[in-house]
Amino acid sequence: MRDPDVCTKIGRMSQLFRTKNIDALIAASEEPERRLHKTLGRWSMAALGIGAVVGSGIFILTGTAAAGETLSFHSVLHAPVLDLLWNGADSISTIGRPGAGPGIALSFLLVAFACSFAALCYAELASMIPIAGSAYTYAYATLGEIFAWIIGWDLILEYAVGNMAVAVGFSAYFNDILDNVFGFHLPPELSQPMIAGGQFTGNWFNVPALLVLMAVTILLVRGVRESARVNNVVVLVKVAAILIFVVGASRAINTDHWTPFMPNGFSGVMTGAAIVFFAYIGFDSVSTAAEECRNPQRDLPFGIIVSLIVCTILYVSVALVLTGVADYRTLANASPVAGALKALGYDTIRKWVSIGAVAGMASCLLVFQYGQTRIWFAMSRDGLLPGVFSRVHNKYKTPHISTWVAGLAVGIPAGIWDIGTFADLTNIGTLFAFILVSVGVIVLRKKQPERARGFRVPLVPLLPGLSIFLCLVLMLSLPLQTWLRFFAWLAIGLGIYFAYGKKRSELA
Ligand code: ALA
Repeated sequence: MRDPDVCTKIGRMSQLFRTKNIDALIAASEEPERRLHKTLGRWSMAALGIGAVVGSGIFILTGTAAAGETLSFHSVLHAPVLDLLWNGADSISTIGRPGAGPGIALSFLLVAFACSFAALCYAELASMIPIAGSAYTYAYATLGEIFAWIIGWDLILEYAVGNMAVAVGFSAYFNDILDNVFGFHLPPELSQPMIAGGQFTGNWFNVPALLVLMAVTILLVRGVRESARVNNVVVLVKVAAILIFVVGASRAINTDHWTPFMPNGFSGVMTGAAIVFFAYIGFDSVSTAAEECRNPQRDLPFGIIVSLIVCTILYVSVALVLTGVADYRTLANASPVAGALKALGYDTIRKWVSIGAVAGMASCLLVFQYGQTRIWFAMSRDGLLPGVFSRVHNKYKTPHISTWVAGLAVGIPAGIWDIGTFADLTNIGTLFAFILVSVGVIVLRKKQPERARGFRVPLVPLLPGLSIFLCLVLMLSLPLQTWLRFFAWLAIGLGIYFAYGKKRSELA
């Protein structure tokens, strides 16, 4: 006979790995009071993806990653983990992170390659489990509740912290437009972060960063169809702005700027890739719109894959033109694209590019706020978060309470901090989510081979395996400090799960 203590322990352990039945998940999403409106078509899906992907990354981080980051002090915390593993103590003598130089175009290609495998995995799971909640829901159906919680918590990091960084970037370009186009200056006390680099700046609050989030929140509460329409227009504006830059500035390319192409060798290109990964984040958020999509089996894979292809073409073109018109060492500033155009005296192009950048960041904010609330919605419907987060507005049929909470939770910190380093935190969290999604594809192919899939990843387990490997390499190219922050975030999340979610889970 089994010892009752051992049985209790086994019972508790199995609670952590309980999985949701996919049919039950789909049925729950059909309950009338918890049902979202199905209004989006496949081009809206692609626009949603491009809306989320093209934002502050291409307009700001391209410069930082090409030029590299110099720090005024040596610390093991700032060295990329891969360098530490490879070179040991020698990496500590490298101050900061090596720049990719013009090789940043290669970094963009490398990241696109890594993301494409993860995109295929997202497409398969999204076409198979078309439920709001994205990777969180897939993990619940495949790996078990504890993994679902970890990934849900991790996605909050991706969307919320990512959006804080985007809102700060929005404010910087917005101030630039006010200055250049209207000759009007907001006082720095009201338009700059209160804390930068861990120090008080003397400024009070970054008001534009909060206001843009409030505007996005109102739009999202009023309804997703209206939001998607606005998003489609904004996507056209920002893609046009990038094309204006690429075509307009290409006549000023001086090929001498492209030599040496990789001034810090492959290490610079990899470090650059880990930084500009931020620019690709977002194609996965298409999957959070699964329940509002008219034909998810067909439209979700289409949206995910088209947005990734379009963004790769745009990014590699921008990277080549930018490093062709300016010395890469001059690009480490808050607005490298606008700065390079200013140096060339191309003021008209510069104005349009800045307007496109602001539009781009606004649509990024829109999609990430949207995705975030859908994940909270799904977690709350499953009992892991309080019920208010899955309440739907009577008239607008949107999760209005979570939308407002998310708007304030992101807008207030965005007004206080300068969030440069948080882009790294967003990257590590997202790469981790990609890994779990890729594992999910392999697990579900084994556990439920017969279930219908609107889209199938070819060569399983090879391609999901490659996705896992490449994401891990990118994670290891981030600084040790980012890893420590990431572990701290996960530890807080696990604390909340054991104190709240585990007992109240619908499956309990
Ligand atoms: N991909 C988004 C951006 O670049 C997060 O802003």
